[in-house]
Amino acid sequence: MTKETKIFHISEKLEPASLDEAAKILSNGGTVAFPTETVYGLGANALDEKAVMQIFKAKGRPADNPLIVHVASRDDCTSLVREIPEKASLLMDKFWPGPLTIIMNRNDMVPDVTTGGLDTVAIRMPENKIAIELIKRSGKPLAAPSANLSGKPSPTSAEHVIADLFGRIDAIVDGGDVVIGLESTVIDTTSEIPVILRPGKISKEELEDCIGEVKIGYDDKVHPESETVRSPGMKYTHYSPKAGVILVEGDNEAVVNRIKELLDDLSMRNAKIGLMLTENPEKYFSGAESFSIGCKDKPEQAAKSLFYGLRFLDLKNVDVIIVDGSFDPRGIGAAVFNRVRKAADMIIRV
Ligand code: TXA
Ligand code: MG
Repeated sequence: MTKETKIFHISEKLEPASLDEAAKILSNGGTVAFPTETVYGLGANALDEKAVMQIFKAKGRPADNPLIVHVASRDDCTSLVREIPEKASLLMDKFWPGPLTIIMNRNDMVPDVTTGGLDTVAIRMPENKIAIELIKRSGKPLAAPSANLSGKPSPTSAEHVIADLFGRIDAIVDGGDVVIGLESTVIDTTSEIPVILRPGKISKEELEDCIGEVKIGYDDKVHPESETVRSPGMKYTHYSPKAGVILVEGDNEAVVNRIKELLDDLSMRNAKIGLMLTENPEKYFSGAESFSIGCKDKPEQAAKSLFYGLRFLDLKNVDVIIVDGSFDPRGIGAAVFNRVRKAADMIIRV
């Protein structure tokens, strides 16, 4: 598959001619990657089967893994679902536009390919201005999974999208680095008590403040054999760099000591090691490629740099990436742990 991939650079000025050109590719059935506040998405007209099939092909994504449909208004959303449950409506009032994806029962407008054959559809109104402009100017709801090759870490910059999808899609809109760095929280509102299917920036506590009790319907493992998981995405390998990933969880001091032991052990075996540490990597270790995922008390920094760091260390051709899991698990920290545990080949608790 070789396509000529156009690249548009969009600044704060929201260059209208470029946005119109990118939007036209979308309304004509093409595939365009664009920034959102969470991660970059690979968009296509959600109501056009052929366009949506191009997304699956470009990403190498399994056909039963449904896509999120991005809208620019409540009206766009209303036209895709059978009804908007009361609790979904409250969530929209509070968190849209923003990093919350809401699952509702779909109507016949939405083709099977978009929902992986499910009767439900996942919908999100993004906050990023470029994303909103593209939806408005194309005049279509945009199906958009993260713009990475299936199984790779989600892209947080246009360079990541270029590395994975250049030559496989019609265009990339470069709007700089994203602000959050992890994908949206996904909540299913089709049952009496809504269920969180993927953790993200909007936490369980914030959701409960808005609509009362919610359940957790995800765990931090991958379920390769399972056919009954509620969100098909849970079955597949996620966020995997080329290198093996070892996650060390616990208190900072214990984690640092364990990582020192691991380093000694692995360097005796001549492995090239990459480290993702919370603070001052150089202070503790030499002889390894290192990357700081920020202050351990500020999980939003880890959120923003996790995928970036996995890709950064992969480019250094390390054999193993050791991740310091001593950051705060509260708030968005729960989502960071979810992603890094899914990425890990081995988890050590100290
Ligand atoms: O932040 C985000 O959500 C980004 C940006 C681009 O908006 N998008 C994103 O899409 O992360 P994707 O396709 O990588 O993840 C969508 C997740 C998958 O785990 C999928 O299985 C789940 O949402 N999903 C989508 N529709 C669903 C449905 N109807 N029922 C259950 N799970 C659904
Ligand atoms: Mg994804």
